[in-house]
Amino acid sequence: MKPRARHSLLTTEGMSRSEVESLFARARVHARGLESGRSVRALEGKVVANLFFEASTRTRLSFERAAKALGADVLNFTAQASSVVKGETLMDTVRNVEAMGVAALVIRHSASGAAHLAARHVRCAVVNAGDGTHAHPSQALLDAFTLHERWGSLDGKTVLILGDVLHSRVARSNLFCLTTLGAHVVFAGPPTLMPAGLEEMGGRLAPSLEAALAEADAVMVLRVQGERQTAGYLPSVREYARLYGLSAERAARLRPGAVVMHPGPVNRGVELAPEVADGPANVILAQVSHGVAVRMAILEACA
Ligand code: CP
Repeated sequence: MKPRARHSLLTTEGMSRSEVESLFARARVHARGLESGRSVRALEGKVVANLFFEASTRTRLSFERAAKALGADVLNFTAQASSVVKGETLMDTVRNVEAMGVAALVIRHSASGAAHLAARHVRCAVVNAGDGTHAHPSQALLDAFTLHERWGSLDGKTVLILGDVLHSRVARSNLFCLTTLGAHVVFAGPPTLMPAGLEEMGGRLAPSLEAALAEADAVMVLRVQGERQTAGYLPSVREYARLYGLSAERAARLRPGAVVMHPGPVNRGVELAPEVADGPANVILAQVSHGVAVRMAILEACA
């Protein structure tokens, strides 16, 4: 087994505040570069491979945009069109792609721990682009960056994470990142979709959705993950929308100036009403735009 990659981003758990803030400082530089059309070409001559074993729109395209803006060559892989369909293992795949001279592998996989496993078998950097229900660090960093750019600081702010927390790698990664930056994280959603141990990890369970909405500076609405619902956690999608969906009526309970976030893709009319998704409080497309600059900062630090 080869030594563990030294500059990988696998999780936000354990990242220090100064590490996160340094990334944000670079993301700010990259955001300005993207706006002016004069990006820092920090990865000129390097190769970044996007290995997506699971579907993605925002994360894959955003990492590709980020790598190209930094001057890297980009290899794109989707499992369905690869030798994975002939039975090639994850380990063989990552080692073969690394052998083509890549500086960083950006990996999304449906198995929790896949990126960690890959990182133990290659010398290049590994960036976790989402592994099962475990972690999605670049999403959490871009979410926190979006709030940081809006507020100047997350200290003392309250972020409500609403919905299917049990299956959400976004919720877990955000909990670590947001609390590291000084925010309070509150969870609300169906009891069947609340994992044990959130309080031990620094979060708080809301006594009710209504109470949580009234105290939130931001509400991060999670996608109902149909593809990971195997054990009948929900009576029905319609019931979910009625009890936990962020409707216009519920959104009206938010404080003035509170923002509505969603990592995408949105199930319109399920976890988020269309008029809220497109309404004045939403920062959903700002999250996507910030994602490019944040992923540039991540690739610059890792590759
Ligand atoms: N937020 C997110 O991970 O979106 P994609 O699945 O489209 O990459």
